[in-house]
Amino acid sequence: MIWVAANSNLALVKYWGKVPGAANRAASGSLSVTLDGLTSVAGVEVDPSLGDDQVEWRPPGPQAPVRAFLDDARAWLGGAARFRVVLGSSFPVAAGLASSASTFAALATAVAAALGRAEPPAALAPLARLGSGSACRSLLGGFVEWRPEADEVVEVAPAEHWNLAILVAVTSEEPKRVSSRDGMARTAATSPYHRAWLEAGATDLEDVRAAIRERDLERLGRHAERNCLRMHAAALAADPPLLYWEPATVAVMREVWALRRRGVEACFSIDAGPQVKVLCRADAAGLVEAAVRAVPGVRRVLRSRPGGAPRLLDAAPAWLETAAARRAVGR
Ligand code: PMV
Repeated sequence: MIWVAANSNLALVKYWGKVPGAANRAASGSLSVTLDGLTSVAGVEVDPSLGDDQVEWRPPGPQAPVRAFLDDARAWLGGAARFRVVLGSSFPVAAGLASSASTFAALATAVAAALGRAEPPAALAPLARLGSGSACRSLLGGFVEWRPEADEVVEVAPAEHWNLAILVAVTSEEPKRVSSRDGMARTAATSPYHRAWLEAGATDLEDVRAAIRERDLERLGRHAERNCLRMHAAALAADPPLLYWEPATVAVMREVWALRRRGVEACFSIDAGPQVKVLCRADAAGLVEAAVRAVPGVRRVLRSRPGGAPRLLDAAPAWLETAAARRAVGR
């Protein structure tokens, strides 16, 4: 079996709208940081004896999107091979952390490798995005821009460029009620602010790109927070409204602003869920983490930093075997 590990990513300029009719082709550019340690693994093997694909999630997960993706992969890469697939994530999937990006980046890379295709990772962007739009950004490490007009992903800066800490404040462990896919479609169809959101994103991209190149956390915060809040504002104005936040989500945002008023450089971003990702300099991580952890309603804080591109593994990681064993004994 070919084993690939890929990291999730956090969008600093977000993708929230598709080109109508084109499968997961974003209507605007986006830019993310790849998240070290928030990892998904895909194991893939071509098996000519299989009549159908065999998909095993550890622990169990949805079959349909993976099966649809394997059909896409056959169409895109060519061939009629059937696959045996094993999938899992090292972080809590049910906690509403973006695992689809890391899962489909790992799966696209593993399927291509299992078919003996040795394309550079970025060349798989048009395939990975069919599983989940944001997955194409997880094909590269560091700071990654998705340019949908060219159907490509490019590295803006490598992971080592900026010694940042990225703290994930988990405020709810409930699975989210409306998926990104459905939320995006509803916003595009019913929010009067959706067009304005798409147009505003272009200047955010320029500023966030420049802030990364200059390692300017104040400028990054100003534009990434603005971009995040405008996405949520457009979603809130959908009909029926989309409110992804919990009370603790707002409390963490306020805590980040309070930290800034006290001179601690930190900023946040929030995807289509209640968790808040807080970015700060690595040497301030302890202080910021303690402040975020103390916010009522914060259940736990995961610590990450800019991470690398998908990588081939020699074997399944131990935590994936543990997930299988837990399932076997019904825990
Ligand atoms: O890739 P999807 O379909 O899970 O959508 C991602 C949507 C956001 O996470 C909110 C924004 C983004 O660019 O990642």
